[in-house]
Amino acid sequence: MNTRRSTCPSVELAPGYSISPLITGCWQLAADHGAASVEFELLVERWRRALAAGYTTFDCADIYTGVEELLGRFLRRLDDSSAVRIHTKYVPDLGNLARVDRPAIVRAIDQSLAGLGREQLDLVQFHWWDYAVPGYVETALVLDELRQAGKIRYLGLTNFDLERLREIVAAGVEVVAVQVQYSVLDRRPENGLAEWCRQHGIGLLCYGTLAGGFLSDAYRGVPEPPERAANRSLVKYALILDELGGWSALQEILDPLAAIAGRRGVPLATAAIRWVLERPGVAAAVVGVSRRERSDTFGRLWSQAWSEQDWSELDAVLARYPGPTGAVYGLEREPAGPHLAILRMNLKEG
Ligand SMILES: NC(=O)c1ccc[n+]([C@@H]2O[C@H](COP(=O)([O-])OP(=O)(O)OC[C@H]3O[C@@H](n4cnc5c(N)ncnc54)[C@H](OP(=O)(O)O)[C@@H]3O)[C@@H](O)[C@H]2O)c1
Repeated sequence: MNTRRSTCPSVELAPGYSISPLITGCWQLAADHGAASVEFELLVERWRRALAAGYTTFDCADIYTGVEELLGRFLRRLDDSSAVRIHTKYVPDLGNLARVDRPAIVRAIDQSLAGLGREQLDLVQFHWWDYAVPGYVETALVLDELRQAGKIRYLGLTNFDLERLREIVAAGVEVVAVQVQYSVLDRRPENGLAEWCRQHGIGLLCYGTLAGGFLSDAYRGVPEPPERAANRSLVKYALILDELGGWSALQEILDPLAAIAGRRGVPLATAAIRWVLERPGVAAAVVGVSRRERSDTFGRLWSQAWSEQDWSELDAVLARYPGPTGAVYGLEREPAGPHLAILRMNLKEG
């Protein structure tokens, strides 16, 4: 078995637009995320090596405080940054949804362009906090106009369910990607969204593939940490664990993942990411920046072919733990629910 580290392949998200199937997620670098900080010069070194190994694509958002500017600083360090893909998001504040109009959208997009120091945004993923506030189709249409005008190269959505995705596409908006939570713990994209996206050539870009790190060797065979609030990702995914059946359910899922990883000679996290990448409709996994160097885990994603047989033992366990049900981001939108309670929905206005 070949367990050597290999270069990251590329995947075509839209005709003529290739990305790396492992995207570097940069929420962890936002001022309010709470992940241990990583020094900028260290990031520059790591990311230069990552680019050389084919990891060309980064994910950020206008609400990840300071992150577009940080990526802009990184881009300016490179002799040629034209091959680097930066996917950002447009996330209007909940308190402003009713006032979102063309000038506000243009201002936000211009701000992202200025932060990144680019003339065009590669991909803008649009998020809308509350479907009950009208305007998401109109907003998507304005973003599509900005795409046609050249400020945005491609348009995506994030955390929209299938019903609203279809509505937006039916209105004539060209959507190439949808970013959603997808992992062995949270399989809600399988309730229709993934299949529809596959049929319509829309790529799923999946976050939460490591559940903030819970899906890694570090959390296997250890008692539940008393402190859930180490960072915002862990707070978010601890609630997903509650939906799944708690810490013992996580351990039952980690066991077959560790067994697969052991057979393949890779870290558990590699198997967890690979499981997502094997799902129909998935274009890429967005994995958050770690305080540690992780090239070993990532390089081993591509060094061997995986087969259906790899997953049979895991599938049997997953069948006993369906996890969160319903549409993607449905629980997160439930009024008075715990998932909604932890969201910060007015980050731009503070
Ligand atoms: N659209 C949305 O609503 C949304 C929501 C959440 C996230 N995202 C995007 O998705 C990205 C991922 O964030 P996430 O919150 O879902 O977290 P995640 O990717 O599931 O987990 C990230 C954490 O896992 C650990 N980790 C990373 N690589 C590892 C490896 N190879 N082996 C073991 N542990 C590893 C790191 O923690 P340590 O530092 O402890 O190693 C890292 O902080 C974000 O940065 C953001 O770009 C989008």
